[in-house]
Amino acid sequence: MQTLEERKLLEAEFHDKLRDPNLVNDPELHAKLTSNKKWYHIARQSKQFAENYLRQHSPKARALDFACGDGYYSLLMAEFGADVDGIDISDISVRHAASAASTRGLPARFQVMDCENMTFADNTFDLINVNGVLHHLDLNRAYPELARVLKPTGSIICVEALKHNPVFQSYRRLTPQLRTAFETEHILRRKDVLMARRYFSRIDWKFFHLASLAAVPFRKSPLFEPLLSVLETLDSTLLRVPMLRWWAWQVGFILSQPEKGQPPA
Ligand SMILES: C[S@@+](CC[C@H](N)C(=O)[O-])C[C@H]1O[C@@H](n2cnc3c(N)ncnc32)[C@H](O)[C@@H]1O
Repeated sequence: MQTLEERKLLEAEFHDKLRDPNLVNDPELHAKLTSNKKWYHIARQSKQFAENYLRQHSPKARALDFACGDGYYSLLMAEFGADVDGIDISDISVRHAASAASTRGLPARFQVMDCENMTFADNTFDLINVNGVLHHLDLNRAYPELARVLKPTGSIICVEALKHNPVFQSYRRLTPQLRTAFETEHILRRKDVLMARRYFSRIDWKFFHLASLAAVPFRKSPLFEPLLSVLETLDSTLLRVPMLRWWAWQVGFILSQPEKGQPPA
């Protein structure tokens, strides 16, 4: 791999620390670095959206998990019948993912690689998973790389956080220990999602989690499940409103029909 820019070294260092097996031996630091896990209790609909898509498109696919982390989605795609490559800039993450795949005998290979500068040949993949990744990257490099390695008939599923809700963005700024500084400032805006249109002729999206975040304080209560279901129903109405939906926590979008020539200026 080429010498990495400073921000990528910081990303690798941060994610190595987060996934270091010894982190649990320092309960204070562990709690400090993982306190945002509570929000994911309400994220079942976006998770289902990703998993349903991968279940449907994995059989016989050559698949890429783009910034795979510990390989959760890589192994899922392999279980669903894909032949998987997973890449990440964090060495510890790649080692964890490779070891989990080998223990479970799944067809998945992992390597340390920069998502902005991949060594895969053009038109390699039928399916690419991008989950919680784009705000770590320079989109001017990431989108064209994704379009380059995707086969013309392939598709990419992205599930990413959004920046427009001032409450969520204030929380991010108030909890700098939970992410790199680059990440905080590069959470996706509407224009960052729409920028994908330069590289893909088709984009389909769905928005997740606005009112449903109010269920988080009740996550340990017996009321949690019924409350979350009511708030998810409310979200399904709220997130149909064009301006309101960009205040959601997450967006899922499918990119297909990659532009293989020069993108329009
Ligand atoms: C929030 S984690 C998401 C991991 C995984 N997609 C998942 O769903 O569990 C973001 C990942 O991006 C990786 N990353 C950041 N910058 C990268 C880069 N330039 N190339 C490859 N991976 C990168 C980090 O190491 C980290 O594992």
